[in-house]
Amino acid sequence: MRKHLLEVADLDRADATLVLDTTAQIEQALAGREVKKLPTLRGRTVVNLFFEDSTRTRISFELAAKRLSADVINFSAKGSSVSKGESLKDTALTLEAMGADGIVVRHSASGAPHRLAQWVQGSVVNAGDGTHEHPTQALLDAYTIRQRLGRLDGVRVAVVGDVLHSRVARSNVGLLTTLGAEVTLVAPPTLLPVGVETWPVTVSYDLDAVLPKADVVMMLRVQAERMNASFFPSAREYSRRYGLDGRRMAVLPDDAIVMHPGPMNRGMEIAAEVADSPRSTIVAQVGNGVSVRMAVLYLLLGGAPE
Ligand code: NCD
Repeated sequence: MRKHLLEVADLDRADATLVLDTTAQIEQALAGREVKKLPTLRGRTVVNLFFEDSTRTRISFELAAKRLSADVINFSAKGSSVSKGESLKDTALTLEAMGADGIVVRHSASGAPHRLAQWVQGSVVNAGDGTHEHPTQALLDAYTIRQRLGRLDGVRVAVVGDVLHSRVARSNVGLLTTLGAEVTLVAPPTLLPVGVETWPVTVSYDLDAVLPKADVVMMLRVQAERMNASFFPSAREYSRRYGLDGRRMAVLPDDAIVMHPGPMNRGMEIAAEVADSPRSTIVAQVGNGVSVRMAVLYLLLGGAPE
């Protein structure tokens, strides 16, 4: 394992498998316990540095660090009037002075965690940077797929929707292909990034054609807050062509699962009946997120085994 987890390219196949296996071990170690806590990172300090909104990722990292007995500081930088570059550097120096062993950072600027990693001694974990990457989301998604389907090699994954603005999609494409899955991106042409033809994926504009051959359908949120122009005619039209409803779900192979990183736009990219169906792993993904982040913090901060 490298010192930082800034993007999924920091993980080769062996590293990624190690994270998933460690996650399984942690879940096993905690399963029988009344007190869901391991002493592994006692005396270490983890700082959660969130410059951008978050519900599950932030709570998940906090819980993960606490379940490893680390001291946790939550720093919400939202509303700072200092320009981004300066505020990030000043914050980094402050954290450095306080001796943070691990820094978990979410920032609206792509590349912010990379800059931070140059300024601090501790390990930096990217919790989402702009439209760039969200590596722990990809790890928890891979873990969830392996848990439900028993394998990742050869699994056919359709990633559907707003790929253009999605760091979840970028990280998943990288990690899933590293682990041997076959990824198809399904989106309107306007929501696909420039240069997508160089990605190790198949691209389709036709959801109905892809679904019968998918083991996993990963729906992406339409990220209206990152849209400065009109990318599709209307929400209704988007939903009609790229939304996953009950009728579409019915053509999936029997064991296929439906994923979504959250937060969902129910009724837009995913219908409520799909989100709440037995095929949906959305709640499991959140639960697995805590264990996966425990594994990442454990492996990066080098806690001694119990
Ligand atoms: C994602 C994110 O913030 O990148 N959410 C998450 O971390 N679970 C996806 C999104 O915002 O749509």
